[in-house]
Amino acid sequence: ARADCECGYSVNSTTDARHAVFTNLHETDFLHISDLEDDIGWQRQEYNVTQEESRGPFGKAARVDNVLANPLLNEWDWAGDSVGGGDAGLQLWVRERTTDGMIEMGEIVAEPTDVRFGSFRVGMKVTGVPGTCGAFFWFRNDSQEIDMEFLSRQLNESSSPVNLVLQSPDSVAAGYDASDTPTFSLYPLDFRPDELFHEYRFDWLDGIVSFYADGVWLQDMTVATPDSPGYLVLNHWSNGDPGWSGGPPERDALLTVSYVKYYFNTTGDEGDQGDGCGGDADEVAEKVCRIPDQTVAPDPSGPDGNETARTYFFSMREDMTPGQKHYG
Ligand SMILES: *[C@@H]1O[C@H](CO)[C@@H](O)[C@H](O)[C@H]1NC(C)=O
Ligand SMILES: *[C@@H]1O[C@H](CO)[C@@H](O)[C@H](O)[C@H]1NC(C)=O
Ligand SMILES: *[C@@H]1O[C@H](CO)[C@@H](O)[C@H](O)[C@H]1NC(C)=O
Ligand SMILES: *[C@@H]1O[C@H](CO)[C@@H](O)[C@H](O)[C@H]1NC(C)=O
Ligand SMILES: *[C@@H]1O[C@H](CO)[C@@H](O)[C@H](O)[C@H]1NC(C)=O
Repeated sequence: ARADCECGYSVNSTTDARHAVFTNLHETDFLHISDLEDDIGWQRQEYNVTQEESRGPFGKAARVDNVLANPLLNEWDWAGDSVGGGDAGLQLWVRERTTDGMIEMGEIVAEPTDVRFGSFRVGMKVTGVPGTCGAFFWFRNDSQEIDMEFLSRQLNESSSPVNLVLQSPDSVAAGYDASDTPTFSLYPLDFRPDELFHEYRFDWLDGIVSFYADGVWLQDMTVATPDSPGYLVLNHWSNGDPGWSGGPPERDALLTVSYVKYYFNTTGDEGDQGDGCGGDADEVAEKVCRIPDQTVAPDPSGPDGNETARTYFFSMREDMTPGQKHYG
């Protein structure tokens, strides 16, 4: 059988006036992963940031045992009981306890480090325990970073925002504080991100970053957009800073990730178009697969969980990742 997707993956159809094609993919289905040591393209982090370096009253202690797999009990289902109880998925914990003045946290970093432009998507449910920051972000350095950040202290009956941020030379100049720069937005969501799993997404192209939730467009940012390669990170942390994360949390706080999927270009040559990609523009366009839009909350804990949480993975289908590096 001829392989599909030899020429990559597109946001929108290649016949739409506005679309973007990416040649690589990295998809991770945390609802069904039981061993984080497998070759899934993610590394659990272990590091210390002292109080002085953390720019808050506490330091941060990233520990691998604050990053845990908790898959569904039945591997053929997309909802139902988990092996360890509670919501199935990857767990990122911020602990109530501190270690030598540092708050214990969890973080994973993706393997491809030369990612430049892409569509980045996470299914997750954040904590309702005040005093943490849950972050899904692409990182190069302090002046080139794209963030979707959830501050659990900002969640209550009348408030449920996501912080949309591009770190920029301006935010570095302001002492690593983006809040008074043009690329900061406290965007009010019309749902509580700590009640269900939702998909958060950003599309980064040359000169524009577009943010989405459950496939609904939220906002574009067109200044200070990154232009150099970097990598994807997910973390859940607190440094006690009353102006940002708040905390430490009064009890252990959990952020759960059901999947991460991203479709991207690199500046290196690792992962590329399949050998079968070639021909004139029309032939190339025909060998591009459209990435389905996730338009409902992909929530394994709801009554329709086995439907809504069964989201699309090219890497679970036959012959749809020709030539690309395939993780896990
Ligand atoms: C996809 O189409 C929508 C609707 O026209 C547009 O707003 C969005 O920018 C397009 N995305 C890309 C990556 O071109
Ligand atoms: C990604 O790379 C492919 C292959 O080089 C190219 O055709 C496409 O335009 C690039 N996408 C973006 C958004 O730059
Ligand atoms: C969930 O859906 C899968 C198909 O994707 C099916 O095999 C399984 O039996 C369903 N489980 C339940 C509990 O309905
Ligand atoms: C971040 O990376 C860009 C591109 O390499 C570079 O121009 C900039 O100086 C770096 N910023 C910091 C704070 O290191
Ligand atoms: C809800 O949170 C917002 C943002 O932190 C705060 O301004 C507001 O006073 C809070 N409202 C209630 C009812 O706690």
